[in-house]
Amino acid sequence: MHLTLTVKVDLERVDEMDLEQKLSEWFEWFHAHPELSYEEYETTAKIKEILKDAGVEILPYSLETGLIAIVRGALEGPVQALRCDIDALPILEESGLSYASLYEGKMHACGHDFHIVAGIGCALLLQSQKESLKGAVKIIFQPAEEASIGAYKILETDVMEDVDCIWGLHADPTRDVGVMGIKEGFVTAAVDRFVITVTGVSCHGAHPDDGVDPIPAGAAMVQALQTIVTRNVNAFHPALLSVTRFQAGNTWNVIPEKAELEGTVRTLEKTDRVLFEKRIREIVSGIAQAYGVKAELTWMPGPPATYNDAEMVDKATEVAKECGLQPVVNECSMGGDDFSFYEEKIPGCYIKVGTGKGQTIHQPGFAIDQRALQKTAQYLKEVIVSNM
Ligand code: NI
Repeated sequence: MHLTLTVKVDLERVDEMDLEQKLSEWFEWFHAHPELSYEEYETTAKIKEILKDAGVEILPYSLETGLIAIVRGALEGPVQALRCDIDALPILEESGLSYASLYEGKMHACGHDFHIVAGIGCALLLQSQKESLKGAVKIIFQPAEEASIGAYKILETDVMEDVDCIWGLHADPTRDVGVMGIKEGFVTAAVDRFVITVTGVSCHGAHPDDGVDPIPAGAAMVQALQTIVTRNVNAFHPALLSVTRFQAGNTWNVIPEKAELEGTVRTLEKTDRVLFEKRIREIVSGIAQAYGVKAELTWMPGPPATYNDAEMVDKATEVAKECGLQPVVNECSMGGDDFSFYEEKIPGCYIKVGTGKGQTIHQPGFAIDQRALQKTAQYLKEVIVSNM
């Protein structure tokens, strides 16, 4: 009895407040208070405060950062999840916004502040009609997406065990507000990282014959690694390898002992991830032998490719049209998102939400057009309801 009364009172509060105005206030707060991966303490506290105030139930998981809210419908139905990532990046903001980051060198430059507020808005809207909802909706405020493995923190709990499907979103600054990028199949790539340490023998720059130079060996590896893409991978499979760091030596007349190379491999097909690791090992060890150096490869697998379920894509597209939004088939990105870890268990759909054209994500001038807030919250709510 008491519970019913509490909910009713809170529902009135949700109805009373101008949701658009509230979403904007909250968004500006989150934007001004960015926190890096695994450090999202204030962010978590603020999300909790807003949801509790609106009478939304928070599940009692003891996560260090991040939280999981639930809206339980009055009727029987499936359990769905919505994933919103909450962390920021180590970037010095140059957006010029009145509500720019208060923390120097930290910035919500990937729109995760937008994801938080869209998730809160969706939760509040679902909460306000829970009497007619079927099943339940778990809204996952996930830490540390930028660290590529924050999803593990959620998956270590049993929260996903009864979940039938999961929705995800990402801000897209290449499209106008109201445009929804929805694509069946692959939408982001698998993200793997590698480090190669090449060890030779240091000597005077004028006497290379006294040592073993690791630099030509490293340079040969950079060249040869590219042939995996052009000579080993099926020509119909998108794949790439980038060597992004090559460090060796510290002066002009000394041949250094070591060279270090680091980079990333992006693939869609699972078999290509295996192929890359195998070929990198073969190439690195073959070149090391040919140049008389020692070489060590460290292979760090990250999230797999994100794959959108066909039925969920159809629903999301249909609902976008019904909401007067513009669904478009977006291209697959060779970027990654740890949303894919959830999809190793259940079907998912990851939607690219137009947030107004401007600087790309991870740039100091990145900004969200706030007109996307209410639209996205409403849209996500409708998509989830349509799937009950
Ligand atoms: Ni992001």
